[in-house]
Amino acid sequence: MTLAVDVSGLNKSFGDKHVVQDLAIQVETGKITGFLGPNGSGKTTTLRMLCGLLTPDSGQGKVLGLDFRKEAERIKRQTGYMTQKFSLYEDLSIEENLTFVARVYSLDDRRRRVGDALERLGLENRRRQLAGSLSGGWKQRLALAACVMHEPRLLLLDEPTAGVDPKARREFWDEIHALSAEGLTVMVSTHYMDEAERCHDIAYIAYGRLMARGTGEQVIERSGLVTFRGEGPGADRLSRELAGKPGVAMAAPFGAAIHVSGTDRAALEAAIAPWRKSPFRWTEVEPTLEDVFIHLMGQSKDNFE
Ligand SMILES: Nc1ncnc2c1ncn2[C@@H]1O[C@H](COP(=O)(O)OP(=O)(O)O)[C@@H](O)[C@H]1O
Ligand SMILES: [Mg+2]
Repeated sequence: MTLAVDVSGLNKSFGDKHVVQDLAIQVETGKITGFLGPNGSGKTTTLRMLCGLLTPDSGQGKVLGLDFRKEAERIKRQTGYMTQKFSLYEDLSIEENLTFVARVYSLDDRRRRVGDALERLGLENRRRQLAGSLSGGWKQRLALAACVMHEPRLLLLDEPTAGVDPKARREFWDEIHALSAEGLTVMVSTHYMDEAERCHDIAYIAYGRLMARGTGEQVIERSGLVTFRGEGPGADRLSRELAGKPGVAMAAPFGAAIHVSGTDRAALEAAIAPWRKSPFRWTEVEPTLEDVFIHLMGQSKDNFE
């Protein structure tokens, strides 16, 4: 196993706000790692420190085999970074945008690279169309194409599909998987659960701390969470009654059903006992990633406060 990212002791404060706290993270080469966590938890800050755009207060380790503090310039050249907002020029055509990026990176063989990117996107016929006239999904695919034109080995994507419709998100993810299959290491932040499930690995960050790490299955298993699913008339409304009862870490409606989770099985069973009769039906289910994330978020908030 080779590591594309292997850093530890990462810290960053803005004023008196300690936004990344003693973060250690390892990422295997060629894997897609999803960064999840509430807003303001330090995901963007972490991604920016890893690719040398932001200087950490402390931390050591390697990115792409290079000292990430001392060799930031070399890391930058082998990294593609897609920011949270669309960062291309809306009033340039698709082709002009790609050519512009190729010039900024002083890439050789510009014509071929731009041609390859257009072909890969399937946008050869629309090369003269203004980028601003593309749909949200296509804009993001164009931005992705632009940030891999210099053939990076590491790709950092910051909420690349926020606000993009489900079909376009799926296509974007097909492209991420294609790039990963070609050997690229990908770190991607997202709020979407279906996207978390498409990652090889997950890192859950809350309030500057890494709370969970591993495959989706591992994250679920290590959470120690027990989840019951309740069905019956008005089951969704039960969530309000159950929330806050001892043993109930989380009670949330899922469609017409309710998921009740906690780490103390006996206490959890005691909490739902009054409703464990007809017309309600209860089954123990495997917690979903979403259950685990909501649970972790609650936990970290307690720690934070
Ligand atoms: N340049 C900055 N100056 C001051 N505060 C910042 C700056 N960048 C980020 N922050 C703060 O750091 C915290 C983490 O932000 P960020 O890394 O963007 O979180 P996330 O990407 O997880 O939403 C937030 O509270 C944010 O307001
Ligand atoms: Mg962010």
